[in-house]
Amino acid sequence: MRHPFWAAAALALAVSAQQTPTTAQHVEIDIVFPRNETYRDTDVFPIVMAVQNISTIRETKGDYQIFWDIMPYSDGLIPGGILYDSGTLQILTNNTITGSTFLVAATNATKWLRENRSTGRFDRFMLQWYFEDSDREERCGGPRNGNAGRGGLMFNIQTAYAEDLYGLEGMLLDVDDIPECPQFAALVESGQNATNPECPTQKQLEGVQGNPCAVKVDQAAITSILSQASSLLAPTSTATSSTSTSSAGVGPARTVQTALAAACVLCGLAL
Ligand SMILES: *[C@@H]1O[C@H](CO)[C@@H](O)[C@H](O)[C@H]1NC(C)=O
Ligand SMILES: *[C@@H]1O[C@H](CO)[C@@H](O)[C@H](O)[C@H]1NC(C)=O
Ligand SMILES: *[C@@H]1O[C@H](CO)[C@@H](O)[C@H](O)[C@H]1NC(C)=O
Ligand SMILES: *[C@@H]1O[C@H](CO)[C@@H](O)[C@H](O)[C@H]1NC(C)=O
Ligand SMILES: *[C@@H]1O[C@H](CO)[C@@H](O)[C@H](O)[C@H]1NC(C)=O
Ligand SMILES: *[C@@H]1O[C@H](CO)[C@@H](O)[C@H](O)[C@H]1NC(C)=O
Repeated sequence: MRHPFWAAAALALAVSAQQTPTTAQHVEIDIVFPRNETYRDTDVFPIVMAVQNISTIRETKGDYQIFWDIMPYSDGLIPGGILYDSGTLQILTNNTITGSTFLVAATNATKWLRENRSTGRFDRFMLQWYFEDSDREERCGGPRNGNAGRGGLMFNIQTAYAEDLYGLEGMLLDVDDIPECPQFAALVESGQNATNPECPTQKQLEGVQGNPCAVKVDQAAITSILSQASSLLAPTSTATSSTSTSSAGVGPARTVQTALAAACVLCGLAL
């Protein structure tokens, strides 16, 4: 127990009747990469989110995850109904991080672009994400809370062939072009549960603004993100040897690396 005081206080509240003060706790989710831009075709395309204020959900002992997937949109408008790739970002709460944490995954864009060559001038891709406490049903007996937060972001990738064909020279960005300030995605509020402090109701707040610029994506963070993304896609043997590339100030994201490549159990959610 890292914060026995908090736990004791919450317990005391639970016992002392229903006058729970409504000091709601918030977790903020931000999207670091990709952005609403057109990127150059690449083998290692990072998917990066940042989570702020993890400390506010630490005591709930939940198993917090963000499921992500990528769906093609014809002309940027019509959902393709298939997923080109998907995965899970594990949010570890068994640590003492009080600031923000980067969650890093990667997808081989070359692979799915090649298998689906007909990317038109106005076609787009949607990065869809779902925030969930996967353990809630088991731990709390209540509803699964599958909808604690969700969202999507449009982006585009074009091949060199398309760059030529559509006259996009000079307009495509590379994947190391990661802005310093992420894009706000969601604020998830944890209300208190008087019966059991480990089972707060969680909901995504509508019409609010976050504070994404509190996450500092500096050059060291970018280096770390790109290196993690590469090793996630590398065959296991070479991934091991690449752990020695720790010369740059490797960011906090290092801690979340292990569980990232896990399969997406709930991809059906997207359909
Ligand atoms: C998030 O944490 C920061 C400190 O890291 C704090 O200043 C801020 O008030 C917290 N925000 C919420 C919504 O809890
Ligand atoms: C994405 O960028 C395009 C072109 O720059 C713009 O027309 C569109 O409104 C943007 N979409 C969002 C959701 O910001
Ligand atoms: C490419 O598109 C086809 C048909 O739309 C689909 O069946 C296939 O799964 C796609 N390939 C990848 C890698 O997603
Ligand atoms: C936190 O949990 C993960 C996954 O269960 C584990 O790999 C890691 O060692 C734990 N970290 C600490 C500091 O306990
Ligand atoms: C990505 O996919 C392409 C095409 O299938 C393949 O040639 C390449 O080796 C893959 N790269 C990685 C890093 O997996
Ligand atoms: C409060 O926690 C209990 C489990 O102890 C759970 O059954 C209930 O659904 C929770 N209440 C809310 C409003 O989520």
